[in-house]
Amino acid sequence: MAIRNIREYGDEVLTKKCKEVKEMTPRIKELIEDMLETMYEANGVGLAAPQVGVLKRIVVIDVTGEDPYILINPRIVESSGEQVGQEGCLSVPGKSGQVTRPDYVKAVALDVNMKPIEVEGTELLARAICHELDHLDGHLYVEKVEGPLQDVKAEDEED
Ligand code: NI
Repeated sequence: MAIRNIREYGDEVLTKKCKEVKEMTPRIKELIEDMLETMYEANGVGLAAPQVGVLKRIVVIDVTGEDPYILINPRIVESSGEQVGQEGCLSVPGKSGQVTRPDYVKAVALDVNMKPIEVEGTELLARAICHELDHLDGHLYVEKVEGPLQDVKAEDEED
C-alpha cells in the first residue's frame, strides 16, 4: 500500500470522464487499497480515482471512520429531499462552500469482487455519494457552490 499524490483543482485529470471497470485486477485492487490509505491519511471522508490521477469509475467513502464503502461503477438510482450544507474536497485544499444536495440517495455499484451492491444514505453519506460520483464525470463541487468559497482551518475535515 502507498499514499498517492492527490491532484488539485486546475489539474486537467479532474475534468475528465472516467471509464467503467470491466474486471478486477491486482493492479486495481492495489489502487483501491492506496485510495483508502490516501483518504484516511488526508482525513477525508471520500476519494475518487481521478483525484489520484486514475480515470476509472471507482470511489471510496467513509463518513464514520470505521467501515469504508468501496464503489465500483457506481450509479445513483434514486434520490429525494434536499440538504444545504458546507462541502469541501481534498482536491481543493483549505476551502469549503455551500452546496445543495439531495438528502437521500440510493446508489448501485459493484464491490471489490465485482458483485452488485446497493448503498443507501442520508445526510453526510448522501452528500458524499453525490460529491464523489460527480468526480467520475469530471465535476467538482466548486461548480455547484452557492456564494463564495470560504477558507477552512487546517484541522477541519474535508471530503
Ligand atoms: Ni472531492
